[in-house]
Amino acid sequence: MKAITIKPNIIGVEVRDVVVKETLGRGQALIRTVMTGICGTDRGLVSGKISFAYPPEGFSFLILGHEGLGRVEEIGDGVTTLKKGDYVVPVVRRGCGQCLNCKIGRQDFCETGKFVEAGIRGKHGFMRELFVDDEKYLVKVPEEVKDVAVLTEPLSNVVKATEELLFIQRRMIWTCEDSTFECRNAYIVGTGPIGTFFAMTLRTLGFQVYLLNKREPSETERYISEKIGAEFYDTKLGIDKLPDADLIVDTSGVPEAFLPLMKKMRHNSALILFGTMEGEKAEMMSDLVTEIVEKNILIIGSVNASKKDFQGALNYLSIWKYRYGDVLNRMITSKVEVEEAPEVLSKKVKGEIKAVIKWS
Ligand code: BGC
Ligand code: ZN
Repeated sequence: MKAITIKPNIIGVEVRDVVVKETLGRGQALIRTVMTGICGTDRGLVSGKISFAYPPEGFSFLILGHEGLGRVEEIGDGVTTLKKGDYVVPVVRRGCGQCLNCKIGRQDFCETGKFVEAGIRGKHGFMRELFVDDEKYLVKVPEEVKDVAVLTEPLSNVVKATEELLFIQRRMIWTCEDSTFECRNAYIVGTGPIGTFFAMTLRTLGFQVYLLNKREPSETERYISEKIGAEFYDTKLGIDKLPDADLIVDTSGVPEAFLPLMKKMRHNSALILFGTMEGEKAEMMSDLVTEIVEKNILIIGSVNASKKDFQGALNYLSIWKYRYGDVLNRMITSKVEVEEAPEVLSKKVKGEIKAVIKWS
């Protein structure tokens, strides 16, 4: 079958015919891929920059793709929650089988580090025509959001990070006098798909949201921020005009982008670090350390998501489709054929929010 492959740690990507012997076992389903999303991680893998990438045992290549959407083609014995024709999204990470978190479906909090991730490390991904997966790793997609369900995986990570934030912030009272979050300001650094999803999630929870980038918004970004009620802010204008922050979410991975914003952080505020980037440097003064200490500032690193976060993501997609109309569809800025994928995977085009590959 056709697949998109890389050789981990070597620059390059190709479309080729692969033989991956997978038999349909008990509790499993055969899935025909419908769409796969492309993200920064995929581009990092293609440029050989993700050091933790490695192929599955017995293979010299890795099939890419961790943002999948597929359709059940066939089910094995013992499958109870899926039927032929259902749309499904597969989870990315598969547990180590040893630690308690992995044993209870929270492999996103694996303690041994011996997990694998489809299309990233140790397991073939979903950029291929067909794959077999366990029922427990497949998330059923509600009918009304199947056209945008390729966005589920990136959004699941945002749902998880937000849940962590709200859980940890119960260390004191963080809600406003009227019990909502409407008195709280959030800065989102970076306006790609993850930044946009944080903005939508936090707006839905009531936060005032500022989407930060060091440029003016594109037409689509302007449209989306208006629709969701967030303010797009060009940091080239200086940050004095911004109100103080109760939350900063960095999706850039560039310390130079978020460290200067930290002086605007209020007492008991939080910084979520979500973006990753290699080789970026910035100076951190001890004065900032003092501020972080004196203001009880919380710093949360967050990666990956569990199956329930995928379900949470699908619930948000349903709400937003109803509330924001074509916003989700407009986030998908291009849909390309498999043959065009290597080009798109090698270079991000201007104005892109989310590029997806069509499979069937
Ligand atoms: C994926 C996560 C994964 C992470 C690894 C992200 O792009 O969405 O599921 O855990 O890459 O760094
Ligand atoms: Zn991704």
